[in-house]
Amino acid sequence: MEVDRRAFLATLGVGALERMSPEDKAEELEHYMIHMLEEEHAEEEEPLSEDELAELQEQERTTRRGTGSLFTREGDLEPMPLNATLEDFFRLRFAPARHVLQSANHALQTGQPERTILACLLHDTVQNLIKVDHGYWGAQLFAPYVDERVSWGIQYHQALRFYPDEATGYEYPEMYNRIFGEDYVPEPYIAEAYKYCRAHKWYMESRLITVNDTYAFQDGVDVTIEPFIDIIGRHFKQPTQGLGNDNSPTAHMWRTMANPDRPL
Ligand SMILES: [Fe+2]
Ligand SMILES: [Fe+2]
Repeated sequence: MEVDRRAFLATLGVGALERMSPEDKAEELEHYMIHMLEEEHAEEEEPLSEDELAELQEQERTTRRGTGSLFTREGDLEPMPLNATLEDFFRLRFAPARHVLQSANHALQTGQPERTILACLLHDTVQNLIKVDHGYWGAQLFAPYVDERVSWGIQYHQALRFYPDEATGYEYPEMYNRIFGEDYVPEPYIAEAYKYCRAHKWYMESRLITVNDTYAFQDGVDVTIEPFIDIIGRHFKQPTQGLGNDNSPTAHMWRTMANPDRPL
């Protein structure tokens, strides 16, 4: 995907870029790219019109940047079934989920382990709930239902994005240089997380998420959830009562996504 630098900067609003930390800038860029991928007009490769820019800027002014898209999306949400499954959440709350589906598809097509495919499929879905520090939120959301290595990988992908690893083919995103300048330095907690993760025996669990991530911002590529149903069945511990009704440590997060209109 080509990012229109002017359109991206315009969504940040006047002066906002200077006030943001490097990590915030990179987060913002990722959210922007996912947002563009989710939008119909992303496929047309047309630069945003003045009106569209104004609308995006207005949205930025009236909501916190870290707000999940379920809280900013227009229109009514279809109710979730009582015994909601992960597949139901993909269909009714995460859709179109192009970025994670493309990422999991790359892992599938290149013969990576099923655990990695699942991690890729889940890695950014929490952004529908909350964007800020999404690696950490995402890891917690899924921890009760997946192999520990999957949630661990999701947690650290947030930090690993900033650190190249030639052996795995992961390069520092050129776009970070173009948009934020070459003096870009991740925040101390991200640097610490990287150091910890790099030395850990599960390092590759997280690294592979970032590798597949770079293939997952493609305009006009639609992947359905179908090829992943069996993998979900084998590796995601679907609660019989339905996600949100199972009294797990993160059931409240699923209930919030099921009904973000609940006032309290
Ligand atoms: Fe991410
Ligand atoms: Fe991602």
